[in-house]
Amino acid sequence: MNQSIALVGPGDRQIEQLLRSRGLSVSAWAERDLTLRAQHASPAADIVMLDLRDQPRLPASLEVFHRQHPSVPVLLLLSSLDPALMLEAMRAGVRECLQYPVSEEELNAALARIAASRDAGPAGEVFAFLGAKGGVGATTAAVNVATELAHLRKGSVLLVDLHLAYGDAAIYLAAEPRFSIADALENTHRLDAAFLRSLCVTTKAGPELLASPDRVLAVVVDAVRIRALVDAAARHYRYVVLDICRTDPAVLDSLDPVKKILVIANQELATVRGASRMAATLNQRYGKDRVVLAVSRYDPKAGIGQEDIERVVGAKIRHLLPSDYRVALEALNTGRPLALNNQTRLAGALRVLAHELAEHTSDAATQKSGRNIFGRLTSRS
Ligand SMILES: Nc1ncnc2c1ncn2[C@@H]1O[C@H](COP(=O)(O)OP(=O)(O)OP(=O)(O)O)[C@@H](O)[C@H]1O
Ligand SMILES: [Mg+2]
Repeated sequence: MNQSIALVGPGDRQIEQLLRSRGLSVSAWAERDLTLRAQHASPAADIVMLDLRDQPRLPASLEVFHRQHPSVPVLLLLSSLDPALMLEAMRAGVRECLQYPVSEEELNAALARIAASRDAGPAGEVFAFLGAKGGVGATTAAVNVATELAHLRKGSVLLVDLHLAYGDAAIYLAAEPRFSIADALENTHRLDAAFLRSLCVTTKAGPELLASPDRVLAVVVDAVRIRALVDAAARHYRYVVLDICRTDPAVLDSLDPVKKILVIANQELATVRGASRMAATLNQRYGKDRVVLAVSRYDPKAGIGQEDIERVVGAKIRHLLPSDYRVALEALNTGRPLALNNQTRLAGALRVLAHELAEHTSDAATQKSGRNIFGRLTSRS
């Protein structure tokens, strides 16, 4: 059966013809139809194209429609690609923004990307790791979780070092990448499976890695580009782990596809305060359920205890990663993640964290780590 596309707005014969020539059945909707269809179980269209040429604002009906029918891709037709409007559109669930007049190639490419994301099946799960302060152990956690997930799903795990500069995930994995997120972010229009994979390096530990760049980017990186990269990664990998940077607002604004955002704190007062502010912002933007508090380098004898952290941050600590500097440092210096075969308590806790994220709860993880009691102590979700 033909796919159907609803054209919302003033209507344009040339665009209608282009859509029909691609075998789509086109129906014309008024803006209020978006609100009406939001009240039905069936969206009545496979794709929605919203023509906003005469109207530089998103209609409220779009968000209502998207909430009810999140799987229906929405394309916007704009008179100019205003970054603020594109960002707002992205937050409202819009997949593609096209500038009028739109060429046949541009329209075909946008429809092909939508088709490709459908054919790729359900999106993979994305987890982000964010240190509440520098050096708390966020990369250590991200690298080890990605390694453990790769052992669950061989070949289908991608670690993205989303530091626009000076990311060090490649060192933790003894990888020598030729390409980086710079190449991906400069080419978001061609991020299909083959191109994305060609930018990644397969690591000895298991996960593929898309590394942080060691050069200046040739484009201004905004949330729209980062979101396009995260979406593409989720389309092509079963699990995607993001090592993200707290000082980059564009990255923090691009996490809609992320299932869990792990805020990593430690027992320093400044870090706990930072975690509190960070969690509040993320809760508001992405919802409390997706924000997970973890404490790394945990020392049960430290002056600031679990309850103190929970009180200041206003959330339960879900994971405690014990302090073991010697073991963590050796793993870093040898490029061999702890999750591989290390039998320390820290390695066990990292494995449990990975399995819980993958919802392979406890048994497999704790048996593998050989630390059932510790698993129960460290995992409090
Ligand atoms: N649980 C731990 N116990 C002791 N040391 C740890 C632990 N986790 C990480 N480390 C050590 O702390 C240092 C910083 O770790 P890591 O690079 O993971 O932190 P980060 O939060 O990613 O830092 P950055 O802000 O530089 O990105 C490294 O030397 C690492 O080996
Ligand atoms: Mg780091």
